[in-house]
Amino acid sequence: MKDPDSGWINYGAYRVQAYPDGRIASVMCSKGKHGDILMRRYHERGQRCPIAVVAGMHPLLFSLAGIEVPYEKNEYDMAGGLLGKPVEVILGPKTGLPIPANAEIAFEGTIDPNDRIAEGPFGEWTGYYAGGLKQEPVIRIDTFMHRQDPILLGAIPAVPPNDDTYYRGTYRAANVWRQIEAAGVPGVKGVWSHEAGGSRMWLTVSITQMYPGHAKQAGLIASQCHAGAYANKYVVVVDDDIDPANMNDVIWAMPTSYPADERIFNSRMVIDACRPWLRRKDFPKVARSSKELDARIKAKWSHVLPR
Ligand SMILES: Cc1cc2nc3c(=O)[nH]c(=O)nc-3n(C[C@H](O)[C@H](O)[C@H](O)COP(=O)(O)O)c2cc1C
Repeated sequence: MKDPDSGWINYGAYRVQAYPDGRIASVMCSKGKHGDILMRRYHERGQRCPIAVVAGMHPLLFSLAGIEVPYEKNEYDMAGGLLGKPVEVILGPKTGLPIPANAEIAFEGTIDPNDRIAEGPFGEWTGYYAGGLKQEPVIRIDTFMHRQDPILLGAIPAVPPNDDTYYRGTYRAANVWRQIEAAGVPGVKGVWSHEAGGSRMWLTVSITQMYPGHAKQAGLIASQCHAGAYANKYVVVVDDDIDPANMNDVIWAMPTSYPADERIFNSRMVIDACRPWLRRKDFPKVARSSKELDARIKAKWSHVLPR
């Protein structure tokens, strides 16, 4: 999508659902994501929002679309920087939006402010069919382009670790690290975003303590900076002798405390991580492939999968 005022192009991974009426699709941009912000800019003026959708593209373009590239920065530019050459694009014949020239499938269209359709439920990155069935914006498709027998890059959001978490954790850790330092916090020695938390919900920051409050400052900023804020639940700050990617070490550090005085008491933390009692029956279903499907995939791809 494109900012109607500045011309900024945002390229993000937002799920798109197909419908029996092949002339429409839906798109789900969570509140505050750049796609949502840009769409609202058109809709608040009563205008249709132009959008281009691509499926089957260079894996780097997919990876960058799914991470928090800063507001007003263009993911194509970032991909070009990492690849060492610009990403080739064509301009959509209807919208003029840039579309990766080597995409397998691409379409463009517009979204009316009042056009909504039932969407979902989809398996999601948290490992649940969490969003349920909701009303989401409809794309009225103007142009549809595709290769014959397109090859699609799959990335199934399901119980972590999943197809996204292995790369997302690396990008997130680097970005949180950079943003803590940019906020003026010294002594950061490492950051990790554990895959079990979908590479989002759990962050560990390792620091060389330099002043009182240093650890708390690093933790609070990690929890609120752009790369760390969305859906974060836990931040743990550890000393620099702990490898933040080693959960054994991190958990070892967490409960270890030696009070300075001789009191024989210690403290307890109890985390109730059960599904809430009142939601036992309607809690979202777990998103996970069946054992039978796993076995079929393993048999089919045994020549390339690690033993
Ligand atoms: C496979 C995959 C599916 C995703 N689906 C959605 C989605 O449906 N809606 C959404 O808001 N974010 C989704 N995300 C997360 C966004 O892509 C991510 O937050 C990204 O930073 C959004 O781009 P933005 O920062 O430019 O808004 C998905 C990410 C991946 C990798």
